[in-house]
Amino acid sequence: MHYCRSAVVGLQYIFLVHNAMASSSWWGWWTYEGISGPDYWGLAYREWYICSKGKHQSPINIEPKTLLFDPNLKHIHIDKHRVHGYLTNTGHDVTFYVDQSSSPKIINITGGPFSYTYRVTEIHLHFGSIDNWGSEHSVDGYKYPAEIQILGYNSDLYSNMSEAETSPAGLAIVSLLAKVDRTGNKEFEKLLKDIRGITYKGDKVKVSHLSIHELLPPTQSFMTYDGSLTWPGCYETVTWVIMNKPMYMTRDQISSLRDVKSNLKEKAKVPMVDNVRPTVSQNHRVVRTNINFAQPGKGCNMERNLKFKANIVDNKP
Ligand SMILES: *[C@@H]1O[C@H](CO)[C@@H](O)[C@H](O)[C@H]1NC(C)=O
Ligand SMILES: *[C@@H]1O[C@H](CO)[C@@H](O)[C@H](O)[C@H]1NC(C)=O
Repeated sequence: MHYCRSAVVGLQYIFLVHNAMASSSWWGWWTYEGISGPDYWGLAYREWYICSKGKHQSPINIEPKTLLFDPNLKHIHIDKHRVHGYLTNTGHDVTFYVDQSSSPKIINITGGPFSYTYRVTEIHLHFGSIDNWGSEHSVDGYKYPAEIQILGYNSDLYSNMSEAETSPAGLAIVSLLAKVDRTGNKEFEKLLKDIRGITYKGDKVKVSHLSIHELLPPTQSFMTYDGSLTWPGCYETVTWVIMNKPMYMTRDQISSLRDVKSNLKEKAKVPMVDNVRPTVSQNHRVVRTNINFAQPGKGCNMERNLKFKANIVDNKP
């Protein structure tokens, strides 16, 4: 009898450990190319099925012609307070994690399309090996050298990121498409200051007094749509906001990102660049914008005067 009970307890224990190991080894498995790449995320691991089957996935190509002006969209607000945290090489991307315990204030995203308050927990960087590849979203077919994604979770409804990412209205991601220029964004310089310290997977460096707000380009124009995480498990819980002006980074900054590797120091050096999920179909979703295409004084001229298109030439403030 005694023996029997402990055998059962033992079995449950093994089952739990096995489960935990399975999900963490899947987390180590996925990549951005080949047989562990985006085409296979949803096929290889049952819990990520929505990566293959989902119809509200991200990223997408923003088509200027199909944008819908929505006068109800408010100004987007990200708190100006500074935070401390860690810039980390996750093996998949470069992520800045806010250290909530040492930061003086919680940074919230509010306004824009959001009815809830979203607490900023991390910033993800995606980047390419060449200047016309690297952003996940594209505008009118045009890709940018990098995309900076500021993630917040719905703190009105949920207690943390992992609960929110699988729940309705769980996440907000404010996305900045980056361009290379002689003078880069000052806060971005602060973020990447010790990037040489995170060349390999698992490396992290401390970043102090970062203003996430000052990464934002000087515009209140944005596009917004409902989509998903752009990495496994691709949960369709994300409201995306894509700012309608680029964030500028210097040639040195993009080069330093291109030097980051995606694996451990003792392994072969595989560059992290091109950590980009390909765009997927919009599938009848509406992309709304607060850019009013009607020109005042010109009657009903609905010409689509999209700033981002102008930015391709150059529209630096
Ligand atoms: C962000 O919202 C939380 C409540 O969710 C609040 O405690 C905090 O003070 C807000 N942060 C700022 C900078 O106002
Ligand atoms: C997140 O919150 C849920 C629900 O409160 C809790 O069960 C879970 O342990 C939390 N996860 C982390 C990583 O803190």
